[in-house]
Amino acid sequence: MSQLANEYNAVNLGQGFPDFPMSDELTDLVNKAMKSGYNQYTHMNGFPLLRERLAAKVQKLYNTSVDADRQITITPGGTYAIYTALTAALQPGDEVIVFEPCYDSYIPNIEVNGAKAVLINLEYPDYSIPWQEVKQKITARTRMIMINSPQNPTGSVLSEDDMQQLIQITTGTAIMVLSDEVYEHLIFDDIPHYSVLRYPELMERSFVCFSFGKTYHCTGWKLGYCISSAELMKEFRKVHQFNCFTCNTPLQVAIAEYITNEDAYLSLPQFYQAKRDYFAALMKETLFKPMVSHGSYFQCYGYDHLSDEADKDLAVRLVKEYGIATIPVSAFYKEGKDDRVLRFCFAKKEETLEKAVEKLVKFRG
Ligand SMILES: Cc1ncc(COP(=O)(O)O)c(C=O)c1O
Repeated sequence: MSQLANEYNAVNLGQGFPDFPMSDELTDLVNKAMKSGYNQYTHMNGFPLLRERLAAKVQKLYNTSVDADRQITITPGGTYAIYTALTAALQPGDEVIVFEPCYDSYIPNIEVNGAKAVLINLEYPDYSIPWQEVKQKITARTRMIMINSPQNPTGSVLSEDDMQQLIQITTGTAIMVLSDEVYEHLIFDDIPHYSVLRYPELMERSFVCFSFGKTYHCTGWKLGYCISSAELMKEFRKVHQFNCFTCNTPLQVAIAEYITNEDAYLSLPQFYQAKRDYFAALMKETLFKPMVSHGSYFQCYGYDHLSDEADKDLAVRLVKEYGIATIPVSAFYKEGKDDRVLRFCFAKKEETLEKAVEKLVKFRG
């Protein structure tokens, strides 16, 4: 959709990235790191001070003590952390429970390891997890359950009750958990983020993946990290060692300093909630039906009351005829389930959101 958006010079609310600048202070710190000579390989597991400070952050936010040496690895982005965890954990023939709609790398990453994605639809329209169905789909081959909160593409978030269900289902089994928490700080309406890191029973069986790109408005940096039990991290690092081995040094040095600025991430719920609300207020002028978003960069809108046009066709038509790019939610289902829903990214400047809605009001079905 981004390619089509460029071709038609459309406003791009499709792909998830901020169109506003990141912090000058952080880019200055990268410059400072480079000028101070941090330009060679750093430790395979990540710049040690950054890992120490991440451990301190996790202790403070989630009341969990993690060992910076044995439980944290810095990776070139969240996607890589997810791929590495799956590759470390899976054997051919294993089954992994995946909730759809989902981030597009999950299923290919499972299949490239010879494992099978067992797909479960989140419950439309609130996109909650149908735990009864999860219990029914567990077999002797179930090796892992993947969760993502706040969720891409729907903006749904998991509750304390969801976490208790997950604990109940996995306790006493060999089932691992992969928790994609790249939007940990993009959570709204005063809802706490129920990180897997809060639950020792889950931590012992989980890989938890994060992205600095989302937290610091720099998706192009492709820097993230994984936290897991020491035992699982040993396996994770066996894959990491012979893949990227070590990540960009000056970025890590800069973040190790910037991360002490707690306000930079603690202010994010309010910052992004204001964007979500601004966009929602503008969208009231359109005929699209808002769905619920409690987190992430995204807000979905339905249009089944306006038309039964396939979402992919409508998304293409919105670019070509109206000059606005969105993502059809069917693209996040392997079999293309189409509930007539489009995903909009509101991580944009107010003027971008205004321009987008000016175009969307013209759509009458
Ligand atoms: C749910 C989810 N997981 C992981 C990622 C990837 O993060 P990164 O850009 O750090 O690889 C994204 C990015 O869009 C995402 O939406």
